[in-house]
Amino acid sequence: MKALPTAIALTATGMGAWVLVQLVSPLPEVEARGPMTSQDCAECHPAVFNEWQDSHHAFAYHNPEVRKLSNDFRNEECLACHTPRPVLDFEPGERGTGVDCLSCHQGPNGRMASANRMPSSNAPCQPYHETRMSSVQHCASCHNQHGTVDQWHAAPERLKGKSCLDCHMTETFREGGRRGRHHGFPAAHDREALLRAVRIDGGIDENGPWFSVENHGAAHNFPTDERSRAADIQVRWQNAEGNWSEWEHAYRFRDPYRDEVDLVNTQLPSGKTWRQSLSRPPGATLGEARLLYRTQPYLPDDDSEELGRVTLKP
Ligand code: HEC
Ligand code: HEC
Ligand code: HEC
Ligand code: HEC
Ligand code: HEC
Repeated sequence: MKALPTAIALTATGMGAWVLVQLVSPLPEVEARGPMTSQDCAECHPAVFNEWQDSHHAFAYHNPEVRKLSNDFRNEECLACHTPRPVLDFEPGERGTGVDCLSCHQGPNGRMASANRMPSSNAPCQPYHETRMSSVQHCASCHNQHGTVDQWHAAPERLKGKSCLDCHMTETFREGGRRGRHHGFPAAHDREALLRAVRIDGGIDENGPWFSVENHGAAHNFPTDERSRAADIQVRWQNAEGNWSEWEHAYRFRDPYRDEVDLVNTQLPSGKTWRQSLSRPPGATLGEARLLYRTQPYLPDDDSEELGRVTLKP
């Protein structure tokens, strides 16, 4: 253990010194493993593996929506982010495991990158410290295609003070009490995460009915991502007999996709509030407005998430 301070001093001086660190460090008690697949990680990191398996990172290759649009990955351009591994790494006939453990962790010489400053030096997967693991840069390679990282840079300080990991990889505890980060990446498919994003309000004042949506909990646009997501405001009114009308569309938050050339980007930037007057049919005294989140813009109301509803009354 006496070698430790020297080791730290040497790491600070760069790559050449790294070799020396290896010489002065105590010999590993455990054999380093040879090349591994993500399936191998399950044996020693079962909790992380289970969290990942239920995440959209694991789903990225099998996702039917992605398969359809990529023509079953015959469009190879889509592989780069949806299953960024050499095809030869997989069993014959099995071509992808999505954004897997190795996509995010594999460093030089098969070592596993860690955000931990002092990862266990004798673990079989040879973890080493990599500053990029705890930074927004780690996510940017794949998540800036639709501008999510640029949007984060433009967010107000209150929200930008949090990194991607603070909101999408919350702290959890591993066996033995070691601190870990949840690998489920909750967001567009998680009701709790969606509810944290927005605050809604509405009523009727001297200028008539109004409704507002504040992006108060996402450090990027709401909804972020272009092609697939939309959030809609709908309104309905009660007539003199007390009957409610059908829900009517009032506004859509969305970044249009390539072919939707007639539309403009109406996403709600981080920290911003959208507020607008609504038109009211003659005679209506009481109304309701609601916000629906759709993971596909054409999904029916019943398959969308209602994120909140307000009564419109004077
Ligand atoms: C034979 C068991 C074993 C296998 C297989 C294994 N690991 Fe590990 N790993 C460990 C042990 C033991 C540690 C050190 C103790 C700890 O941090 O849990 C560790 C630590 C880590 C760390 C650093 C954690 C920290 O906070 O310091 C990362 C990252 C990691 N492993 C990733 C992986 C990945 C990714 C794979 C699959 C490619 C993998 N490991 C395969 C046993 C294993
Ligand atoms: C190798 C590329 C890659 C990297 C690196 C990556 N992601 Fe992803 N991520 C994806 C892809 C692709 C999807 C969408 C998969 C799908 O739904 O088919 C995704 C999905 C997500 C989702 C879920 C969105 C939803 O629909 O629910 C979140 C949240 C997320 N990523 C956050 C992160 C964060 C935070 C980081 C950095 C620690 C990160 N990702 C790193 C490629 C990546
Ligand atoms: C630069 C990385 C990158 C490339 C290349 C890429 N994607 Fe994605 N894709 C993502 C990320 C990241 C997400 C998660 C949502 C987002 O955009 O923030 C995603 C999400 C998706 C989704 C939504 C999944 C869902 O369940 O809602 C579809 C569909 C999709 N991609 C299809 C494709 C197709 C088809 C291609 C090839 C033409 C492609 N992607 C190429 C990074 C990429
Ligand atoms: C302050 C908390 C917060 C921070 C920081 C944050 N996000 Fe999010 N993120 C959210 C919330 C809430 C949602 C759900 C609403 C939405 O889509 O805006 C979300 C949604 C997402 C989605 C889902 C997009 C989709 O439609 O599938 C992705 C991908 C994502 N975030 C990536 C990132 C990345 C990458 C970073 C870092 C640059 C980041 N987030 C930083 C809170 C945050
Ligand atoms: C989208 C990228 C991404 C994927 C996929 C991913 N990780 Fe991680 N992982 C990270 C990041 C980033 C951290 C560092 C978070 C921190 O400690 O600040 C991390 C931390 C860890 C840690 C240490 C913290 C903890 O929770 O125990 C282990 C161990 C680990 N990952 C193993 C795995 C294994 C095993 C898989 C596959 C089942 C996997 N990771 C998949 C990005 C990823």
